[in-house]
Amino acid sequence: MKTGKARIRKAVITAAGWGTRFLPMTKSQPKEMLPLVDRPLIHYAVEETVASEIEDIIIVTAQGKHSIENYFDRSFELEHLLEQRGDTKLLEQVRFISSMANICYIRQREQLGLGHAVLTTKQVVGQEPFALLLPDDIFGSQVPVLKQLMEVYEEYQGSVLAVEAMRSEDLPRYGIIKAQSLEKGVYQITDLVEKPAKGEAPSNLGIVGRYILTPEVFDMLERTPPGKEGEIQLTDALKLLLEHQAVYACRYDGVRYDAGSPLGWLQATVELALRHPVLGAEFTEYLKRRR
Ligand code: G1P
Repeated sequence: MKTGKARIRKAVITAAGWGTRFLPMTKSQPKEMLPLVDRPLIHYAVEETVASEIEDIIIVTAQGKHSIENYFDRSFELEHLLEQRGDTKLLEQVRFISSMANICYIRQREQLGLGHAVLTTKQVVGQEPFALLLPDDIFGSQVPVLKQLMEVYEEYQGSVLAVEAMRSEDLPRYGIIKAQSLEKGVYQITDLVEKPAKGEAPSNLGIVGRYILTPEVFDMLERTPPGKEGEIQLTDALKLLLEHQAVYACRYDGVRYDAGSPLGWLQATVELALRHPVLGAEFTEYLKRRR
């Protein structure tokens, strides 16, 4: 099977999950719309995509997720109000959100897992390599993590997964790779396991929520039976893909917050607030003052 040589033009952002780790908050609000300081979680994934020079975005949603579409759409009433008030700064911000990228939406009718969510984008993505972002993972890095993966893709022309070294107690919560080192921070994957049982992980390198995938992954997803938790797992499809083409991993440079869990969300909130251009100084003072 051939690997693609095309430029990455499209990104898929999955936003269809139940958000069970954040219940009861997510009972009536999509997790992707949780605020991180002054913008919703999914805004950061879109921003990272645009900063990586990809402008066509496919967001996979599900029932109850309309607020995501409204957020990235224009709001003429609000713009009119801000215009009348002469609040040009806010007006620009609000308009910018709806012009950041070309976004289209696909509704996953049944929530059958991450692999299934990715498979719903097959027709729209077509026969070209694409980026995949899981918006729970928020990164702080000099070069956007997606861009780091794209650089590895440029060189090796195969799928690339973002990985990080994890603590052994965290390994059962992630897809874990077995790999050979190719150069600093770049690996060729020899095996993958989705959420291995305690003590059974093939390494300490866990997959985090950024991927570059070749279109052949769709054929693999179609052949992937339900795996862990009865869901169609992307990791299982990538294991099948290994039989046909090389798959790589990039140990990204930066820090990650798992904002899809209450603790990770709190950490991300504090870190982003400390660095916020308007709130940062005052918030730092507040943290210093409190006991
Ligand atoms: C998914 C993937 C897993 C990956 C993780 C990264 O799991 O299935 O391989 O390590 O994302 O966040 P989930 O977090 O949806 O359980």
